Amino acid sequence: MKTTILLTIAALASSAVATPVLLSKRWSYGHIAGLDYSILNLARNLESLELAYWNQGLDNFTEADFEAAGYPGFRTYLELFRDQEIAHFTVLNDALGGGFTNCTYTFPVTTPEMLLAMGQVVTTVGEGAFIGGVANLTDSPSRQTGGSILGNEARQNSLLRQFLGLNFFNAVNFDTPLTASQAYSLAAPFFDCPSSNPPIEFHLIPPILANFTAGTPPHNAGDEITVKWDTKKVNLGDDVHIQFLGDVYSIKAPLTQTGPGVGTTNLPEYINGTSILVATNFNGKGPIPDGQNFGIGYVVVA
Ligand SMILES: *[C@@H]1O[C@H](CO)[C@@H](O)[C@H](O)[C@H]1NC(C)=O
Ligand SMILES: *[C@@H]1O[C@H](CO)[C@@H](O)[C@H](O)[C@H]1NC(C)=O
Ligand SMILES: *[C@@H]1O[C@H](CO)[C@@H](O)[C@H](O)[C@H]1NC(C)=O
Ligand SMILES: *[C@@H]1O[C@H](CO)[C@@H](O)[C@H](O)[C@H]1NC(C)=O
Ligand SMILES: *[C@@H]1O[C@H](CO)[C@@H](O)[C@H](O)[C@H]1NC(C)=O
Repeated sequence: MKTTILLTIAALASSAVATPVLLSKRWSYGHIAGLDYSILNLARNLESLELAYWNQGLDNFTEADFEAAGYPGFRTYLELFRDQEIAHFTVLNDALGGGFTNCTYTFPVTTPEMLLAMGQVVTTVGEGAFIGGVANLTDSPSRQTGGSILGNEARQNSLLRQFLGLNFFNAVNFDTPLTASQAYSLAAPFFDCPSSNPPIEFHLIPPILANFTAGTPPHNAGDEITVKWDTKKVNLGDDVHIQFLGDVYSIKAPLTQTGPGVGTTNLPEYINGTSILVATNFNGKGPIPDGQNFGIGYVVVA
């Protein structure tokens, strides 16, 4: 009996190896179209950005730099992350039939700590993009591939969080979905692509900068957050509040505008990990419609 089961499992395993879904012909040769194409094209851009990020990290910092900064052994993971991003980028780029030239990538990173801290945010956004994107993909192999990539991104994120002394799990129970426009907009300040690349067909939301007024993570509900925005790009009316996205929650908090382009808000309960903040006048349930995202940023809560 036992032998039969083992043989059956072995047979299944070898047939799985022979035809992994994500390498199926249907998926590999440019049959992706419409919204599926737009979502995977965004995902390809995000993977390319992540690859560039870890590549620059490898160019910029030695293992001795990581050790001196208190992250002994990190460079080995950096190499692993680079290899993982090559794999993610390649599978998406092949599915979309190529046609992608590297963009220019610039990051505000000068120290190992900044590399890990921003990497933690980049992986949170990458994962949120896939979780949001999977919901809208109609093509089954694309959904499966999205799921297999997001699990990998989540483990990168946890490892970075552990090195940084943050809560290993990011959000407590569920990871946070982002709409395509939200994910694109959070990444957009860091890349500039040649016009020959297929355009990213989502809405660009201007950045807002948010930070706790005092203290270090873990922060508590009620802690004050200063929010800043560029008044040339964003005009926030009196009806605008801050919506905190974290776990499965989307929680409203008042924004007190204290001057041109600056205001304060307070961390609501239930928001943990790295939370995305949206300035909006949307009061409904579910994802914030593109046109009602007036500014987007993040805070590291715990
Ligand atoms: C794109 O950049 C990556 C490094 O980020 C490099 O490995 C790859 O070869 C580049 N591809 C092209 C087409 O230049
Ligand atoms: C790497 O160093 C270059 C040159 O100082 C800098 O422009 C870039 O942002 C750094 N990137 C990362 C990810 O460390
Ligand atoms: C994705 O689906 C959500 C509903 O789950 C919807 O609000 C959103 O507009 C969709 N995005 C696109 C680009 O169609
Ligand atoms: C946000 O606050 C933390 C803790 O005080 C600090 O380490 C970090 O540099 C601040 N970030 C920005 C962008 O001001
Ligand atoms: C975040 O999660 C940690 C660990 O589960 C918990 O101690 C803390 O109270 C949470 N913070 C908030 C703001 O909910």
